[in-house]
Amino acid sequence: MHVHVADHPLISHKLTLLRDESTDSPTFRRLADELVTLLAYEATREVRVEAVDVKTPVAMARGVRLSDPRPLVVPILRAGLGMLEGMQRLLPTAEVGFLGMVRNEETFDPVTYAERLPDDLTGRQCYVLDPMLATGGSLAAAIHFLVKRGADHITAVTLLAAPEGVERIEAELADLDIPVTLVTAGLDEKLNELGYIVPGLGDAGDRLYGVVG
Ligand code: PRP
Ligand code: URA
Repeated sequence: MHVHVADHPLISHKLTLLRDESTDSPTFRRLADELVTLLAYEATREVRVEAVDVKTPVAMARGVRLSDPRPLVVPILRAGLGMLEGMQRLLPTAEVGFLGMVRNEETFDPVTYAERLPDDLTGRQCYVLDPMLATGGSLAAAIHFLVKRGADHITAVTLLAAPEGVERIEAELADLDIPVTLVTAGLDEKLNELGYIVPGLGDAGDRLYGVVG
């Protein structure tokens, strides 16, 4: 997996505010949204385009447009939903599929409770959105869903990643022969015994949407 840590000063500035435990939910949602738009710029560097001609008021010009099939954006519910609008701002014509996953907080295994993806993803570029790559279980499962349906180019966009999760994804995807890229605003130090990213930002879903019992 190719890992790209986007270390632009504006990204680091917004990420620092996002980490702050005193940042309230409305501000957290706004910062996450802004960060994703900045990350989307990096994440779409290899989006497929085709050549087109366009008539300017002066002359014909050579340009490009997004190729068909359109890219598919897949937020992992719940927290990934907080990244969707920020991504759509740059890719407004992308289609959107959904995966609902929750991590069992004792085993850290992901449980999939919802799945709404096109049956056939042959030739599709897919962008998976999830703010946190912790143990890597959720993202690995999401990537397997997409690959099984034929996706041939996957980019994961996260706000934070832990080294343990990156290693796990690399090990689990070792046999895949499609390109997988991770674009993240930060690669943190480690996971703690509760499976939280350290220093991290806490529970992304709770900070975006509040605590669910
Ligand atoms: C969080 C996060 C990821 C997952 C990461 O979701 O949004 O999906 O945990 O952990 P992993 O890398 O160890 O799998 P959570 O299970 O808290 O659900 P939520 O988004 O509904 O809050
Ligand atoms: N999920 C989160 O929301 N935060 C973490 O630090 C780890 C998993």
